[in-house]
Amino acid sequence: MKIGVVGSGGREAAIVWKLAQDERVEEIVALPGNGGIAELATCVDVEATDIPGVVNVAKERALDLVIVTPDDPLVLGMVDALNHEGIATFGPTKAAAQLEGSKAYAKEFMQKYNIPTAAFRVFSDEEEALAYAETCPVPTVVKASGLALGKGVIICKTREEITRAIHHMMSEAAFGSSGKTIVIEEYIEGPEISVLAFSDGESIKPLISSMDHKRAFDNDEGPNTGGMGCIAPNPFYTKDVARRCMEDIFLPTIEGCQAEGHPFHGCLFFGLMLTADGPKVLEYNCRFGDPETQTVLPLLQSNLLDIMLATERGDLEKVAAENSSDASCCVVIASKGYPVAYEKGFPITLPQTSPAEELFVAGAAAGVEAVAAAGPATDAQHNELVTNGGRVINAVAQAPSLEAAINKAYALAEQVRFDGATMRHDIGKRALGANQSS
Ligand code: AMP
Ligand code: GLY
Repeated sequence: MKIGVVGSGGREAAIVWKLAQDERVEEIVALPGNGGIAELATCVDVEATDIPGVVNVAKERALDLVIVTPDDPLVLGMVDALNHEGIATFGPTKAAAQLEGSKAYAKEFMQKYNIPTAAFRVFSDEEEALAYAETCPVPTVVKASGLALGKGVIICKTREEITRAIHHMMSEAAFGSSGKTIVIEEYIEGPEISVLAFSDGESIKPLISSMDHKRAFDNDEGPNTGGMGCIAPNPFYTKDVARRCMEDIFLPTIEGCQAEGHPFHGCLFFGLMLTADGPKVLEYNCRFGDPETQTVLPLLQSNLLDIMLATERGDLEKVAAENSSDASCCVVIASKGYPVAYEKGFPITLPQTSPAEELFVAGAAAGVEAVAAAGPATDAQHNELVTNGGRVINAVAQAPSLEAAINKAYALAEQVRFDGATMRHDIGKRALGANQSS
């Protein structure tokens, strides 16, 4: 089979790595991929959001399956466009992807289907939002309804901050049209849990739970990022919590999508918070998470391609989705200054990996692209990677215990070298504390 993978991050690198182990896969085409993905896939220079461009490549190269990984092409309807041309896909349609594309839609959906989530109100009128803000307790959370690169959530600790957040999103259009409609939400507390789950529209099979670390610096300080590291399994996701999530959240979500007339096919990501009242949904993502995917896919023992094909065909029930009982840890090595401002173009040195270790390349380009302007590249430059983004490399390791997985991932991460390489040093610390106190 020839498979297309749309996207260019560490998450896509992990998906390509897993699929490349399947002997039925003759070629993987990454659209556009990155300098690391290029080792296992043919990278084609097309933007991940370019729907006609991706459809053309899929037709020209006769791809048998296209996996649409990032949120924006899903929300824009790339799956619908590919299906329209008779091309098989992994991922939800535009209508099903609204669960991520519109927080207002997602919240109203949860209310309709009685799925536990923080109390909320939706506003499209600034005056009304400001009047409501007068009555809100603090803290209160203000969210842009549309996609905002993970930055559209403001936790407001004072009334003034609520007012400022509303202005920022609505009249100042800080997130463009994504902030035209906003959600004002009750502040809830508790450990966060990520669960990625496959669905074929009717049934749902979760992968191992995980815990992302979203803040830039140790001890959960600094600005929010795309995710600085992750561990799996998440110790707060006990058997009892898993059962409640399945009964109260996962199944009602899949049934709700069906009832709305747009069943969810693909990977649905539940961002959960374990509150004193039980698990609640913070957000849905209509796709694999990053860095959750890099962390949990190495633990998947069943065949990923079989699962992906079944999500479209509708017979996921018949396909195994078994996981190893090991733990996994992913440490993100980022460019200094991420997520605010950072330089690119620094050469990267990567160590050799041992079994149960992987280096997934995210924001890096093949050195040859960077030196092309200066004349013909040498062989060494051809093989060299240079930094090309904020999150650059994911060092991932598995081991029988979480502590050992963390130690292995850090030992690997410390050997990744480039100018300005930074990482958090406490990935998994909270999870280890929870393990020890339980
Ligand atoms: P979201 O993009 O909706 O997942 O929000 C990003 C982050 O903001 C979450 O991972 C939480 O840490 C935090 N957050 C979102 N909603 C709430 C809420 N209602 N109460 C407390 N924290 C929240
Ligand atoms: N790790 C969070 C996300 O992928 O949105």
